[in-house]
Amino acid sequence: MKIKKNEELLLIENLGGSVPDSKFAKSAGLKCEDGMLFCTPLLPEGSRTLSFDLTFRKRTSSWKISRKRISVSFQSGYSCKIVFEGKLFRIGGGKQSISVDRIPSGVVFDLDGVLVDSAICHYRAWKSIADELKIKFDEKKNDLLRGVSRRESLMVMIEGQIELTEEQIQHYMHKKNELYKKLVDESGEALLLPGVKPFLSSLKLAGLKLSVASSSKNTPSLLKQTGLDKFYFDAIADGNDIKNSKPHPEVFLLAAKRMGVKPSRCIAVEDAPAGIEAGRSAGMMTFGIGYADLGKCDFHMESIEKTDPVEIFGLMSKLNSKDITF
Ligand code: G6P
Ligand code: MG
Repeated sequence: MKIKKNEELLLIENLGGSVPDSKFAKSAGLKCEDGMLFCTPLLPEGSRTLSFDLTFRKRTSSWKISRKRISVSFQSGYSCKIVFEGKLFRIGGGKQSISVDRIPSGVVFDLDGVLVDSAICHYRAWKSIADELKIKFDEKKNDLLRGVSRRESLMVMIEGQIELTEEQIQHYMHKKNELYKKLVDESGEALLLPGVKPFLSSLKLAGLKLSVASSSKNTPSLLKQTGLDKFYFDAIADGNDIKNSKPHPEVFLLAAKRMGVKPSRCIAVEDAPAGIEAGRSAGMMTFGIGYADLGKCDFHMESIEKTDPVEIFGLMSKLNSKDITF
C-alpha cells in the first residue's frame, strides 16, 4: 500500500473507525507525504495517552501514543512506510507490532558547503591574500581550511612559507573577511544551495530537531541572506560562541545542547574532513556531503539536493535501534 498526499483526507476520515475527527488526527500528528505516513504526536495539555484504531483500505492498526512511547500493532497484510519522529519503519507482511521510545532526535548541519555555497568565497578570499603575500596556495591546501577558524586558516596557509607579526595577522584576517563578505554579497540568492529548504522542511515534518553548527563568525548574516534564519532551525551555534573550532567537537556539542537533544541522538551533516572528525568526537553519526575524501563518515552523498530525506530517516532508525522492539 502506498499512501498518497491526496489520501490524507481519507486517512483522517478513517481515524477512530467511523468517527471522523481531524483535530484528533492533528494531535496524533498523522500526515501523508511522498508515499509515507508521518507520526509526530503533540498530545494536548492534560491528556496522557491517545489510543485509537486506524482503518485504512480495510486493514486495521491499533495505536497507543503517550508522552514517552508510541506503540502500534498492524493487522497482517499491511504494507507501508511509516516515519515515527524521524525514524523510518517499513511495515509489510504478517502481523507486526512496533514500540518506540519517544526521545528527541536531531540533525546538526554545518553551514559552508552544506547549506550555502560560500566555501568558494572563502577560497577566493584566501587566494587573494596568498597572492599578495606571494606564497603558494591552491584548492588542495584550501581543503585543510574547511571548518577551521579564520585565524587557524591563516596559520595553516602561511605555515612553512613565511612568518607574520600579530599586527600583520590581524590585518590579513580583517582583509580576508572584507573580501569574503564582498564575494558573499555578490552571490545574492544563489548563495543558498539548491534543494536545501525542501529538505529541511521534510525533516521538520518528520519531527526532527534541526540546528546549525558552524565555525564561521559570519553565520548570522549568511542565514539572513538566504532566509534560513526563520522557521527552519531550533538552534544555532557558531564561531561567535566557541573557543575551539573543528575538528574540536565544541560547536556540535553546543548545537545539540541548545536544541535539547543528546549528541548520541544526532546526525552531523558535514562537507569537511575536520567537521566529520568533530561530529564523530561529539558522539554523533556523520553524514558527509560533496567532497570525496571525508574519511570515516557513516554515510556519503554528493549534495543535499541529491539526498532523499528518507536516507536521514533510515539512519535515524539505525541510530535509535536500541529503542525498537518487534
Ligand atoms: C567555516 C569555513 C571555514 C572558515 C570558518 C571561519 O568553518 O568552512 O573555511 O575559515 O568557517 O569563518 P569566518 O567566516 O568566521 O571567517
Ligand atoms: Mg563546511
